[in-house]
Amino acid sequence: METTQQERGNWGSTAGFILAAAGSAIGLGNIWRFPYMTGQNGGAAFVLIYLVFVALIGIPVMIAELTIGRHTQKNPVGAFLKIVPGTSWHWLGMLGVITGVAILSFYAVVAGWTLGYFFKALVGDFNRAMTPEVLGKLFTGFIGNPAIAIALLAAFMGITMLVVVRGVSEGIERWSKILMPLLFLLLLMLSIRSVTLPGAGKGLEFYLKPDLSKIHPETVAQALGQALFSLSLGMGAMITYGSYLSKRDDIPKAAVSVAIFDTLIAVLAGLMIFPALFSAGLDPAGGPGLVFVVLPSIFAKMPGGWFFGSSFFLLLSVAALTSTISLLEVPVSYLVDEKGWTRKKAVGLTGLFTFVLGIPSAISQGSSAWFSKLPVVAMDFLSLMNALFGNYSLSVGAFFISVFIGYKWGVSAAVSEVRTGGNSFPLSGSWGFVVRFICPIAIFFVLAYIAVTGRYF
Ligand code: PHE
Repeated sequence: METTQQERGNWGSTAGFILAAAGSAIGLGNIWRFPYMTGQNGGAAFVLIYLVFVALIGIPVMIAELTIGRHTQKNPVGAFLKIVPGTSWHWLGMLGVITGVAILSFYAVVAGWTLGYFFKALVGDFNRAMTPEVLGKLFTGFIGNPAIAIALLAAFMGITMLVVVRGVSEGIERWSKILMPLLFLLLLMLSIRSVTLPGAGKGLEFYLKPDLSKIHPETVAQALGQALFSLSLGMGAMITYGSYLSKRDDIPKAAVSVAIFDTLIAVLAGLMIFPALFSAGLDPAGGPGLVFVVLPSIFAKMPGGWFFGSSFFLLLSVAALTSTISLLEVPVSYLVDEKGWTRKKAVGLTGLFTFVLGIPSAISQGSSAWFSKLPVVAMDFLSLMNALFGNYSLSVGAFFISVFIGYKWGVSAAVSEVRTGGNSFPLSGSWGFVVRFICPIAIFFVLAYIAVTGRYF
């Protein structure tokens, strides 16, 4: 079913688009996933590789996705069907749709935890007497309660569905505009607090002084996955958001701004976590619970900790919401554009399916012994989904997107799309080179290396 530009909706303005795309990018990926990945992968060396990947692969692939989206005004599957009909390329879009649903299923579980922690902070659960050990037990007890985890997953999916059903500019843009700047301010305050704690220096050293001997093939693979995950790349979220862009919008500028905002937030999140973590004597490789244990231990000792704690978890929930919205928008726009479903039906059925798929992740944190330690891979279901879809599927997606631009659609066709509406693209030559050579070759080597060594996680 063809929808006209008018019915499809557009972003209110370029600034509105940048905020919405930054809203998609900024989320649990920056504040929950980035610090724990950094902690598990040896600290500053991981951060360094991550930053290189953001600049070298992230920004070029973001330009690629936005360009495909704006050119076709379609969802990821429809976009490839439109540019190269009769080929298999639309399967790349399908991979994106599937990856979106899979990421959303575990992402909404963690988003549910943040919502739960908002309520906990609000009722003053992290009071002065709490030690990091007690806070650790509080967290494992909380996520190990199946009823709570499933109820919070349902609540978060429900809120996401309510926003997505209302369509892009009304639902998505409005949320991002007000709350993202607030989150930034709060992160800034908390990182200042964190770096001034006693013993913070060791944390800063871990976070900022690279020890190159800590770089392993998995480290590189995880840094690549993290860069793509954090920027919402490799699954067509930015194709979908780009499809609501107008021809007058400046794509490279939007991509660079989004990448800068996103990276700034991640770097700040690390500055907030690591000094406080070392100050409290915790283990940086503590895994997915990191923010949920480290931060309450700061709030517990901080004047007005109740206020800062509840504001933090509320804003983090909102940041997660602007990301879950973009994750759900991918399958929904596919079903609406390609299958002719109504928005309501698409949101209802996809949301329900994602919720059901999220249940194993929700009960994989202690409540179900089987899902908490799966046979063969010896890890919990949530972490497995996170690695498979949050790292590898996105890497495969980004590989093929750059191959598509470089060798199928063609760099010059893409560049002329970027330039329509009178926009300039001064670095188009370098972009073409990076998309044709650097991106696919670098991603290929990362994936091939871990395939050969067999150390995936
Ligand atoms: N980038 C989001 C975050 O950092 C997660 C996300 C990944 C959103 C992929 C959309 C697509 O939280």
